Amino acid sequence: MQEKVNSNTATAVPVQGARREPNPYDPAGGQVQSALLITGRRTLTAAADRNDLRAFIDGLPKAELHMHIEGSLEPEMMFALAERNGVKLGFSSVEETRAAYDFGCLQEFLDLFFQGMEVLCHEQDFYDLTWAYFKRAAADNVRHAELFFDPQGHTCRGVAFETVLQGIQRACADAERELGITCGLIMCFWRHLSEQDAQAVLEAAEPYRDGIVGIGLDAAEQGNPPHKFASVYRQAREQGYKLLAHAGEEGPADYVREAIDILGVDRIDHGNATLDDAQLTQRIARKGTVLTVCPMSNVKLAVVDEMRHHPLKVMLDRGLAVTINSDDPAYFGGYVNDNYAAVAHALELTTEELHCIARNSFTGAFLDDKAKARHLDALDAYVAAYR
Ligand code: ADE
Ligand code: ZN
Repeated sequence: MQEKVNSNTATAVPVQGARREPNPYDPAGGQVQSALLITGRRTLTAAADRNDLRAFIDGLPKAELHMHIEGSLEPEMMFALAERNGVKLGFSSVEETRAAYDFGCLQEFLDLFFQGMEVLCHEQDFYDLTWAYFKRAAADNVRHAELFFDPQGHTCRGVAFETVLQGIQRACADAERELGITCGLIMCFWRHLSEQDAQAVLEAAEPYRDGIVGIGLDAAEQGNPPHKFASVYRQAREQGYKLLAHAGEEGPADYVREAIDILGVDRIDHGNATLDDAQLTQRIARKGTVLTVCPMSNVKLAVVDEMRHHPLKVMLDRGLAVTINSDDPAYFGGYVNDNYAAVAHALELTTEELHCIARNSFTGAFLDDKAKARHLDALDAYVAAYR
């Protein structure tokens, strides 16, 4: 267990915020007695700490860098859109749908995820979906979000690339104007499809180049190594896109190495398997490549058996620049702050570690230096005021 050293004067901390509903990652309902959470100047203990830590997380300015917009489709909206668009769903109720979100592996999730997105047909559907995410993100004090979308999941059903992009972009513009949240869009290639298919997506995106910051690689990882997409990534780099890839989620450390060395990625999505290779871990830590870790996703997809065995703390201790993200919040039972809280409680993270993770979220974002500095100043001021 992690050693907690308190060099500061212990101060009683008043309980902030209401008691929360029971949470699978907090079965004691905030009553765990063992955790000592060390902040710069005060020690948080026992039940009060749970609420206090959640309040700290809720107010922490942060960026979310790994969120699939189609993965924020809550069953309620899925049913509403199915009715609006005359799409037949495989489930008869919202409750039945949620009950089916019990996955043994990534593919079991993908099967439902692909079905779910079939209700998205018109520009307004993409707008409604994205706007709902931003409203939720604002409540979590997300200041900047980089959203993945899966063009192939829509164009294969006859929905135009333009329809998808325009709906998402309109919500992004409203989020910036009404909520002060900035946004970057990352289009993903489905890695179980061919490189030629990915190339077709890159071509379809050409007229909209300015509205898309980067490309990513998602869907079934095992058996679909990064090197399969070497030339489309080369072309995307020439066109000035930022490069990302899911790697080391279900796949091995070799896939993380390929993503870095062959694809030349700017960020790694997940990257859990990195730790299986000590040399690779050291290289990535030294390089400062940001990893977008998704704790609740990892538990829901059985990448990690229990939250208390999540590697995030080891990743931090090895010097990896980790961030915390929600991946597919509607399917995995929690948005970004739920992910921060779940992993912080399970691994007894300190407020310093959470501060560091939130800092990584801004330094790793595809923002210009001025915007990064502004966000980091606000974050540091929040943490300083909290002490
Ligand atoms: N698409 C949406 N979520 C994903 C995940 N966790 N891994 C791979 N592809 C995805
Ligand atoms: Zn993902």
